[in-house]
Amino acid sequence: MSAKNIFSNYTLFLFFVLGFGGCKTGQSLSSNQTDARGLKDFYKNYFPIGVAVGKRNLSGEESALIKKHFNSITAENDMKMESMQPIEGKFNWREADSIISFAAQNNIKVRGHNLCWHEQAPSWFFTDKAGKEINKTLLLQRLKAHIDAVVGRYKGKIYAWDVVNEAIDDDSTKYLRNSKWYQICGEDFIIKAFEYAHAADPDAKLYYNDYNTERPEKRERVYRLLKSLKDKGVPIDGVGLQAHWSIYEPTEKELVTAIKRYSSLGLKIQFTELDLSIYPWEKNKRAKRANESDDYTAELEGQQVAKYKMVFNVFRKYKNVITNVTFWNISDRRTWLDGYPVPGRKNYPLLFDTQLKPKKAYWGVIKF
Ligand code: GLA
Repeated sequence: MSAKNIFSNYTLFLFFVLGFGGCKTGQSLSSNQTDARGLKDFYKNYFPIGVAVGKRNLSGEESALIKKHFNSITAENDMKMESMQPIEGKFNWREADSIISFAAQNNIKVRGHNLCWHEQAPSWFFTDKAGKEINKTLLLQRLKAHIDAVVGRYKGKIYAWDVVNEAIDDDSTKYLRNSKWYQICGEDFIIKAFEYAHAADPDAKLYYNDYNTERPEKRERVYRLLKSLKDKGVPIDGVGLQAHWSIYEPTEKELVTAIKRYSSLGLKIQFTELDLSIYPWEKNKRAKRANESDDYTAELEGQQVAKYKMVFNVFRKYKNVITNVTFWNISDRRTWLDGYPVPGRKNYPLLFDTQLKPKKAYWGVIKF
């Protein structure tokens, strides 16, 4: 067989076996939902693609979707302090264990979320039996016992942990959040949490996780914290940028600047809770306004496609420092943004629709 024939036979072989999509992307298969490849396959040379789940998602059609598209999972709620240790010394492993075994059976990595946060922390943590606030020594002892138990149990099974969540204040003129943790321990709770986690599993990658991290004022306060941790030799591997974004933010420039700024500290970056709301970011609960529509119009969807394409373009460009991109929830069928912060208002922030079918934004993300 001449070299030319070998070449053309090989080309034909590739054409039939891989289909048009045998080229580097999913482009020409984009309208074909029978394509066996999922998000994780299109991104295999970039970074793992994750999703936040609960035990309820691990069977039926949602579980099939998870297995097809994702190679990393995070427990949406089941590994938070109040779920893990609702009563002092009484740990509840059931839900977390089922997530871990689902992951192991399906060759999926697990991100642990989270070890220390001011929300979803049980109130017993901060008080004694008489209900009086405890001192720093005791609070740190409790934190260590919690981290030892949780990180120890999943040693070798959870490859990265969000060690401290959201320690920066929402008020741009302030630095650290005035949480119970901060009131009782000052900045030390952050340092200690990382030290305890590192001691409990020296191989786990340890992250500080926060939101609005691309907004210039918050970015600089997060940077200040990360730098001070690095300067003190605290065992931190990276920063989790939650990426609860919207069709309005971040801009490309804000996103790129944030990636460059944080990675300049020698830290890895993970986008840990990605979704793109169709509404501007709000944190405070409020009633639905008169005439406020929650229609997912073609215009809003178009803006969302454009934003998703932009952020994934940037992610691919910075793949050398980005080690995970995780979506917060599976599909528009149920997202934490339904009714938050406006009760009764539906949101459509993800890549799969309420029927679990890929949206236009999905095709935008795999077409490159
Ligand atoms: C924060 C937390 C997550 C989750 C979301 C809302 O971003 O880090 O665990 O609670 O809020 O679902």
